[in-house]
Amino acid sequence: MVSYKELGLVNTRELFKKAFAGKYAIPAFNFNNMEQMQAIIQACVETKSPVILQVSSGARKYANQTLLRYMAQGACEYAKELGFNVPVVLHLDHGDSFELCQSCIEYGFSSVMIDGSALPYEKNVELAAKVVDYAHKYDVTVEGELGVLAGIEDEVSHETHSYTRPEEVEDFVKKTGVDSLAISIGTSHGAYKFKPEQCTRNAEGRLVPPPLRFDILKEVEKRIPGFPIVLHGSSSVPQHYVDIINANGGKLEAAVGIPEEQLRQAAESAVCKINIDSDGRLAMTAAVREVLNKKPAEFDPRKYLGPARDELKKLYIHKIVNVLGSANKA
Ligand code: G3H
Ligand code: 13P
Ligand code: ZN
Repeated sequence: MVSYKELGLVNTRELFKKAFAGKYAIPAFNFNNMEQMQAIIQACVETKSPVILQVSSGARKYANQTLLRYMAQGACEYAKELGFNVPVVLHLDHGDSFELCQSCIEYGFSSVMIDGSALPYEKNVELAAKVVDYAHKYDVTVEGELGVLAGIEDEVSHETHSYTRPEEVEDFVKKTGVDSLAISIGTSHGAYKFKPEQCTRNAEGRLVPPPLRFDILKEVEKRIPGFPIVLHGSSSVPQHYVDIINANGGKLEAAVGIPEEQLRQAAESAVCKINIDSDGRLAMTAAVREVLNKKPAEFDPRKYLGPARDELKKLYIHKIVNVLGSANKA
C-alpha cells in the first residue's frame, strides 16, 4: 500500500471547492504514455493550472500500473523542476468494479471513479457506497455517475445514452457519499458524438450538433446545491485536426464533438471537472501523420512523437485558457 500523499499528489476535494466558487472547471486529461504526460505538465505549469491525470482501465493495462504510478510521481517532480508546483490528482477513469478501485487506491491513486451508470439504480448505489466506504478511509475522493453516455472507446462502450434523471441525484449523493457526480446531458465518448442526421449544417457545410441539455444541469444544480458535477465525453473534435488527418492518409468521416462555447458555459456552472481524451488523440495523430507523410524517410520516433507532444501541449493550453478557465488557479 502506498499513499498518494507520499507521491506528492492531492485528492479532488479542495480543487473542486475552489473551482465551484471560482466558476471554472479542472481539466481531466487522459494519459497512457510519456509524451502525453510531458505535454500535460508543461501546459499546466505554463498556465499555472491544477490538473487531474486520468487513467482508464485500458490505459492501466496498456502502460502497466507500476509504471503509471511512478509517472504520476515523476509528474509532480517534473512540474517543480519546470518552476511551478501544480496540484496533481491521479484519477481512475471509469472504474467498473470495487476491486479495480481498491487496487488503484493501493497503488497511489488519489481519486477514483466508480462507474455503475449502466447498472440498475439500486445496484449503482450499492457499488458506489462500497467504494466510498473504502476510499474515504484513505482520504481518496470518489466520482459516481448517473445517466449513460453513448459512444465507443476501448473499454467504455454504450450504444445508446440516457439522460440523467434529476429526481435521482439527491438520493444518490446522500446514500453513496460520493464526492462528485458525473451526469449525462448530451455529451458522449469518442470522436463521433452525434450521427449526421442528428446535426444541422453551418454555412461551411460543417456538422452542427444539437445543444447540450442545460435544463437538466440546472435542475441537478437545484437539487444538490454546491455539489461538484463532472462532464465526460467533452472533446470538441477540432475540425482542423480532422482535416490534417484526412489530408495525410487518414479517414475520419463525420467526426463531430461538443462546441467549446457550450463547455465554457458548463465550466461556469456547477461543473467542476471536464474530461478530455479524444481531442488529444486527434492532435497527436494529426501531427504524427503530417510528419510521416511529409518526411517518408524519417524513422526516429522522437521526430514524430516530439511534434505530437508539442501539438498536444498547444491544445491543452488552449483548453485551460479558453474553455475551462483554470489558468492561474493552481
Ligand atoms: O472515457 C473513456 C476514455 O476516453 C478512455 O478511453 O478506454 O480507450 O482508454 P480508453
Ligand atoms: P472524450 O472522448 O470526449 O474525450 O471523453 C473523454 C472522457 O470522458 C474520459 O472519461
Ligand atoms: Zn468518460
